Amino acid sequence: MTSKEIRKQYLQFFESKGHLIVPSAPIVLKDDPTLMFNNSGMAQFKEYFLGNGTPKSPRIADTQKCLRVSGKHNDLEDVGFDTYHHTMFEMLGNWSFGDYFKKEAINWAWELLTEVYKIPKENLYVSVFEGSKEDNVPFDQEAWDIWKGLIDEDRIILGNKKDNFWEMGDQGPCGPCSEIHVDLRTDAEKASVSGKSLVNNDHPQVVEIWNNVFMEFNRKADGSLEKLPAQHVDTGMGFERLCMALQGKTSNYDTDVFTPLIEKVEQITRLKYTSNEVKNISEEQNKTNIAIRVIVDHVRAVAFAIADGQLPSNTGAGYVIRRILRRAIRYGFTFLDTKEPFINKLVEVLANQMGEFFPEIKSQQQLVTNVIREEEASFLRTLDQGLQLLDKVVAETKGKEVSGAKAFELYDTFGFPIDLTALILREKGYELDEVGFNAAMQEQKNRSRAASEVSTEDWSVLIPGNVETFVGYDQTENEVKITRIRKVDSKKDGILYQIVLDNTPFYPEGGGQVGDKGTLVSANETIDIIDTKKENNLILHFAKQLPENVNAGFVAKVNTDLRDLSSRNHSATHLMHLALRTILGTHVEQKGSLVNPNNLRFDFSHFSKVTDEQLLEVENFVNTRIQQQLPLIERRSIPIQQALDEGAMALFGEKYGDNVRAIKFGESMELCGGIHVKNTAEIWHFKIVSEGAVAAGIRRIEAITSDAVKTHFALQENILDEVKIALKNPQDILKSVVSLQEDNAKLKKQIEQLLKEKIDGLKNTLVFEFQEINGINFLSKQVDLSMSSTKDLAQALGSSNPNSFVVLASIEDNTPNIHCYISKELVAEKSLNANAVIKELGKYIDGNGGGQPFFASGKGKNVSGIKEALEKAVDFVK
Ligand code: SER
Repeated sequence: MTSKEIRKQYLQFFESKGHLIVPSAPIVLKDDPTLMFNNSGMAQFKEYFLGNGTPKSPRIADTQKCLRVSGKHNDLEDVGFDTYHHTMFEMLGNWSFGDYFKKEAINWAWELLTEVYKIPKENLYVSVFEGSKEDNVPFDQEAWDIWKGLIDEDRIILGNKKDNFWEMGDQGPCGPCSEIHVDLRTDAEKASVSGKSLVNNDHPQVVEIWNNVFMEFNRKADGSLEKLPAQHVDTGMGFERLCMALQGKTSNYDTDVFTPLIEKVEQITRLKYTSNEVKNISEEQNKTNIAIRVIVDHVRAVAFAIADGQLPSNTGAGYVIRRILRRAIRYGFTFLDTKEPFINKLVEVLANQMGEFFPEIKSQQQLVTNVIREEEASFLRTLDQGLQLLDKVVAETKGKEVSGAKAFELYDTFGFPIDLTALILREKGYELDEVGFNAAMQEQKNRSRAASEVSTEDWSVLIPGNVETFVGYDQTENEVKITRIRKVDSKKDGILYQIVLDNTPFYPEGGGQVGDKGTLVSANETIDIIDTKKENNLILHFAKQLPENVNAGFVAKVNTDLRDLSSRNHSATHLMHLALRTILGTHVEQKGSLVNPNNLRFDFSHFSKVTDEQLLEVENFVNTRIQQQLPLIERRSIPIQQALDEGAMALFGEKYGDNVRAIKFGESMELCGGIHVKNTAEIWHFKIVSEGAVAAGIRRIEAITSDAVKTHFALQENILDEVKIALKNPQDILKSVVSLQEDNAKLKKQIEQLLKEKIDGLKNTLVFEFQEINGINFLSKQVDLSMSSTKDLAQALGSSNPNSFVVLASIEDNTPNIHCYISKELVAEKSLNANAVIKELGKYIDGNGGGQPFFASGKGKNVSGIKEALEKAVDFVK
C-alpha cells in the first residue's frame, strides 16, 4: 500500500464510523501563547476539551501536521540518529468530544489495525495505565478489561505515568492512555528476545504506533488534577511509523514518505544512502546516512512551516524554524560536502509528493524554494566566516585545549554549531574545553530563563459555565460582568491580570489588527484595559490592577479613537491587497499584516522590487476607491464555500470554520474577523511610506491613512515652507534650487582651477628653497593649503626634482597634517623610508599615519608641534 492509500483508508474507516473528516490545522499556532507549533492532533481542539467552545461534530478525524521541536515534546536532537523520530510528522487522529469513550476507541483501533490494515495480531502489544498514587488516579481497569477481550493477556503491559498518562503541556487537558506497539523484527529475532521486554525501550523495530488518550482531567497551575466536565477520546497514530509497518520496512526512512527525497539528495550529492536492511556499514557510510536522514526530515518541517506563514527569523517560532534548517545545512556541509545551497531543490519533490493532500505546499512551491535557498546561502557564508574565526582562535591557543568561552562566542554570535567546532578541532589535533563551553551555555540559559519567566495562576471563576460572546462588531460600550480572573507574573511585563467578561465589545488581537484598549467602569471605579487577546477561544482583557469589587456590574468602554484609526488602516489594507494583486499579479499573497492606530504594515509574496510607478498606481487604486465612498458589505456568517465561490480571498496558514465572516468593499472581498470602516470615505486618504524586502521573495509595504496622512502632509508642507524662507521666497522654488545647484557646480570648477594654479605657483617658487645636504635635495616647509592639496604639492615637488627629500605640513580645520616624499633612488641607496619619517615626526603633532617608503602622510591633534616636526626633518638627511 502506498502512503497515500494508507492515509486515505484511515480517514475512510473513521468516516464509516460516523466521524467528520476535517483538514489539518496549520502547523504554526495562533491564539495560543502556551504553544508555538501544533505538537499533536488534539492541539487544535483544546478549547473543546476545556469547554470553551463546541465542535462541529462530536466525532472528528483527520491527519494533522505536527512539529515536536520545542516545549514539553521536543525530539529535535534525536532526529537523524534513529530511524523513527521526526521533527515534522503526520498524526492520524480520531476524537470523541463527550461522545464515545474507551470501549469504542479501543475496539475501532483494533479493527482498523488487524482487519483493515491486516497487521498480524502476534506483532502487536498494548499498554494500560497502572495508576498513580501521587495524582490519585487508579489503575485503568476498564481499558484492561476491554483489551482482554481482544488480545492475549500477556500482550498487555502496565505503563507508568511517564508512558501512559498523556499531557500536552505543564497545564491543560490530560488523561490516562493506552498505547499500541508493533514488533517489526524478524522471526529469528522474536524467538530469541521477547517483544514484550522491548516495548518502551527505545528499540527501533519495537515502536509505539498509536496512542489512545482518555481525556478526563485538567492539570492546574498548582500541579493538581481536576475532572473535566465531560469524558473525551483523543487518539494519535504516527503516520510515518504506520507506513513502515504496512510497507514491511524497518525504518520510516525506507518508506515512500521519504525515499523520493532521499533519491534527490543522492542525485545532488552523488552519495549513496543505504537502507536499514543493509547491515555492517562503514563508519563513513553511517555518517552519510545520518546526514541524509537529518536533511530529508528537516526540509519537510521547514517547508511546511513556511507554507503556513512562518518565515525563518531571529525570534520565537521563526527562530526555531531557522535552527532546524541550519541543522540540516550544517549536516550537509560537514558530512555530504555540500558547499552550495541545495536543500531548496528538495521542495519540488516534496510538493509533487504531498501537494495532492496538502495543497498549500504545491501552490507556494516557488516561494518556499526561494526562502530556503536564501537562508542556505546566508548560513553557508556564516559557516565560512566561522571557519576563519576558528582558525584564528586555534592560532591564538597556547597548549592543546581551546577555550570553551571562545567556542561559545562562536556559537552565540555566529550560530556556529558546537559539534562542528569540536569536530574541526579534533581534526586539527586540538581538544575543546567542553566543561567551559557548557558552563557558558548554562549561564546564558539562566539569563534568558530569568528574563522570560512567566508564572500563570489558575483561573478563579466568578460565574461558572458562561460562554463569552463578542459584541464588538455592533457595540463599543456594553454592560458586563466579570466571569473569571487570572494573575500572570512575568519578568517582561510585571504583574498583569487577565479578565474574562460575560460578553465583550473589546476586539481581541487577530488577523493582524491589534487588540482594543479602553476601560471597565463601575459605579465606584475605573480600570484601564491595556490590551485584549484571545486564548483558547476566551477573550482576555489585560489590566494592571483589579477592581476592588470584582462582582460589581461594569460598563466596558472601548477607546474608540484608537479603534477608529485601526479600522481605517485595516480597511485600507484590504484595498491595498486587491490593488497589489491587480497591479502586480495574482501571485501576490498576504504573508503578514500588522494593523494598528498609527500605520499598517503588509508583507506579501513578490519577486522583485515594486517600482515607484507601481507604488503610485497602488496609491491611486486605493485612493480612487476611497473617493468612490464604497459602503462596507459585511456578512457575519456565510458558508465558507459560498464565500470562496463569490471570490473571497482566503489565506494560507489560517484556520477557518464552516461559516465565515466576509468583508466586501466594491470588488475587494476577504474572509476577515477584523474591525472595518462603515464606508471607505472614512479612510480619507492612503499614502505609502516605504517599500522593501523582508526575505527572499517577500516584500513589505508600510502605509498610513487618515490623521497620519494629514500629519504627514503638514510636515512636508512645513519643510517646504522652511526651504522657501531659506531661499528668500522665490517665485519658483524648484527653479531656484536647480539654479543654486548649477551655480555651485560652476563655483566648484573655478575653485579647482584656482587651487591648481596656486599649487603650480608654489611648486615653482619652492624649488628655489631646496637645500643640498649630503647630495640630497632637502625641503621642509609649512604651506597654506588644504590637506589634500598639501599632499598633491609634496608629490609634485618631489617627483619633479631628482634626489629629493620633501616634508610639507599644513593645518586644515585645526588639524595639523604632515607629508613626506622621498625619491625612489634615495629609498634604494640610502635606505631612507618615508613611512618611518612620518611615524617619527608625527609624534610632535600628537598624530599618527603611514604609507609607503617613498611617500607617507600623517595627521595629528597638536598644531603647535608643527614647527618642531619640520625642524627635526633635517636630522634624517644629516
Ligand atoms: N495527544 C496524544 C498524542 O499526541 C494522542 O493524540 O500522543
